[in-house]
Amino acid sequence: PEATQDELKSRVAVRALDFVQEGMRLGLGTGTTAKLFVAHLAERVRGGLNVVGVPTSEATRAQAEAAGIPLTTLDDTPELDLVVDGADEFDPELRLIKGGGGALLREKIVAAASRRMVVITDVSKRVEVLGRFPLPVEVNRFGLGATTRQVEAAFQRLGLAGAVSLRLDKTLSDPFVTDGGHHILDCRLGAIPEPERLAEALVNIPGVVEHGLFIGLATTVIMADASQTYVIGR
Ligand code: A5P
Repeated sequence: PEATQDELKSRVAVRALDFVQEGMRLGLGTGTTAKLFVAHLAERVRGGLNVVGVPTSEATRAQAEAAGIPLTTLDDTPELDLVVDGADEFDPELRLIKGGGGALLREKIVAAASRRMVVITDVSKRVEVLGRFPLPVEVNRFGLGATTRQVEAAFQRLGLAGAVSLRLDKTLSDPFVTDGGHHILDCRLGAIPEPERLAEALVNIPGVVEHGLFIGLATTVIMADASQTYVIGR
């Protein structure tokens, strides 16, 4: 029988536990795959594993707290051993698009504070060229219209045809608000042939708080398809 996507996610979440060691300081990712990892980690903690976690979102904080995983902050614990998180896309160089769940800012801060980043995915996230998934760009609420135009202009300068839309919340009438109190522009680019150049252009726009390109952060991708689980990277 065909493995469901949930089964694939569960398999990589369990596999990521192999990277967790006693005493580690862990970043806890956000999204449906990371949620499974946090649930499995909590079981190990109940079994006596000693770790501390820094959640990448309020949703993950609530889950981890309820499940009894001891938590800390990057103020008390500025260096982490490992973050385990999901992704919306990864390419052969382990560059990622993240932020489908809206947690990209904290996810990137936590990843940058971590010695290793293990990304848990299924085969649907693997691409040759990033950009099939709309790139999330987190923007300050002030100046939203002007910042949006600057983002569009940056795409044009780089020869990217991009449709930009403001992400809406569940009501579909109000803009989505991130944990940091910002909005998100979802940018349909189709293909991003030079992610580094785009990343640089985006961070240079005032009002752009962060973008969903994660470059040079993932050390390992764990990916499952119907037949196997693959560990890519170191
Ligand atoms: C959250 O902001 C995202 O970066 C998630 O990590 C990403 O969307 C993957 O989520 P799923 O595991 O739910 O696909």
